[in-house]
Amino acid sequence: MLSTISNALSNTFTARFASTVAITFKSNNWGPTEFNVPEGEVLAKYVLDQSMPNLKMSCGGDAICGRCRLNLEEELFNKLKESQPITEDEDDTLDSDERTPTTRLGCQLKVTKEFEGATITIPSE
Ligand code: FES
Repeated sequence: MLSTISNALSNTFTARFASTVAITFKSNNWGPTEFNVPEGEVLAKYVLDQSMPNLKMSCGGDAICGRCRLNLEEELFNKLKESQPITEDEDDTLDSDERTPTTRLGCQLKVTKEFEGATITIPSE
């Protein structure tokens, strides 16, 4: 019983006081709209949970389906080269005609302070 109450309080505390990062999302037919995204959130999961258009996570975040592509601004893309580099699996999945120089798989990115103020484009399906 005490652990249930403790977990509930902990979840409430986390929900109320978790640090958030302001990120603007847009697509060719939606937005731009700014969201306060909790740090540590998987970027694609957040986009999906907010019902933004054009993004799916068909493989559940295993970097296989390529349906969670997001186009980042060059500055953010370059910052993430160090902190969250593209893995070989992600690189293989990204390799297609739809890839831009700053495309990443949202399922492979966790939200950090590096995302503060960024604008992220959700490409058309
Ligand atoms: S969810 Fe399938 S590649 Fe990201």
